[in-house]
Amino acid sequence: MGGTLSNGRLAVGVIGVGNISQQYFAELPALPNLELIAVADLDVERAAAVAREQGVESLTVDALLADPRIDVVLNLTIPAAHTEIALRALDAGKHVYGEKPLALTTADAAPVLARAAERGLRVGSAPDTVLGTGIQTARALLDGGRMGSPVAAAVAWSAPGHELWHPAPAFYYQPGGGPLFDMGPYYLTSLVTFFGAVVRVSAAVTRSTRPRTVATGLHAGTDIPVDVDTHVTAILEHAGGVLSTVTVSFEVWETRVPLFEVYGTEGTIAVPDPNRFSDSVAVATSTDRTWRDVPVGGGYPDAGRGVGLADMARAIDTRRPHRASGELAFHVLEIMESVIQAGRAHEVVSLASTVARPEPVPWGAHPDSW
Ligand SMILES: NC(=O)c1ccc[n+]([C@@H]2O[C@H](COP(=O)([O-])OP(=O)(O)OC[C@H]3O[C@@H](n4cnc5c(N)ncnc54)[C@H](O)[C@@H]3O)[C@@H](O)[C@H]2O)c1
Repeated sequence: MGGTLSNGRLAVGVIGVGNISQQYFAELPALPNLELIAVADLDVERAAAVAREQGVESLTVDALLADPRIDVVLNLTIPAAHTEIALRALDAGKHVYGEKPLALTTADAAPVLARAAERGLRVGSAPDTVLGTGIQTARALLDGGRMGSPVAAAVAWSAPGHELWHPAPAFYYQPGGGPLFDMGPYYLTSLVTFFGAVVRVSAAVTRSTRPRTVATGLHAGTDIPVDVDTHVTAILEHAGGVLSTVTVSFEVWETRVPLFEVYGTEGTIAVPDPNRFSDSVAVATSTDRTWRDVPVGGGYPDAGRGVGLADMARAIDTRRPHRASGELAFHVLEIMESVIQAGRAHEVVSLASTVARPEPVPWGAHPDSW
């Protein structure tokens, strides 16, 4: 293993220890090529409490970035802080892996990728859920030709709004949030994994006047300003001709619409929730039109959040591209930006960026061993 620690592991410093950080802390001990060294947060008391729980040091953000022991910054701050922290980490000579979205805009994200390239450092980005057995099994079915040729996919993710459960939900209603920038990365990264880059999008967007109020935690009862579209519906044209229809919404109390399906000339795949790692995949085919679960056919087994960073650590070691890459997240960010632009201007938007499909994760692979 190629990290700077004497055991060869990559030394990880986490910046931003809010809601999602707990899922990473639960998973990191199971990832043998990573070692948590220190945490930091604008909220120093929160950082100190988390550091005690995890048995590591609590540092200021400046001190963590300056710490020569740390190889990679795991950036779990809110979307508006992603670019600043990523650039500062790269300037300090550290790799960076961050939560989604990569940045608020492609204009913000481009210097992050450029700086990493100049310095020979890696940028990785969530979602890594797509490296789990759910999405990778669906991909293996497609790549193996079991569904014939892919024709189209349909996504319909909806919820009433994250203010019902998140204790600090204001960022979900600011640029970088909304149902598209928040949940879109799971679906769009899956769609690019399945069918390759998107070349054109059309869309319509709207938002209701329903007031949004924090429902839980210290700020319960606080009104939330809404500065994003809360219902987004889009058509994506992939380079190979596959069409994906994508609706994401914070406006729906209940629904029975399927979450995610892929349609091929020989059958349909019921794709499991791409915000989860290991749910099972079902198919119905032209010769057997009954839904049947399929055996796992790919993906890191029993994975959790952080597996994309472990994959990146391994890729640094073996000098190959990592899967949850900055380039993939950049393309997904451009899809989201283009969808909003298309919806607001009532026009078809062509994308400037492209990206290759990430390498599949063969069944049985472990991020530490291949
Ligand atoms: N909450 C979830 O279920 C969830 C799931 C998947 C992904 N995410 C993503 O994870 C990221 C964080 O979400 P969250 O729910 O944990 O948010 P959160 O508000 O609970 O936590 C964010 C933390 O980052 C800190 N922070 C903000 N700006 C900072 C800065 N400049 N420097 C240092 N610390 C800073 C905040 O003080 C806070 O402790 C977001 O990008 C979100 O999209 C969240």
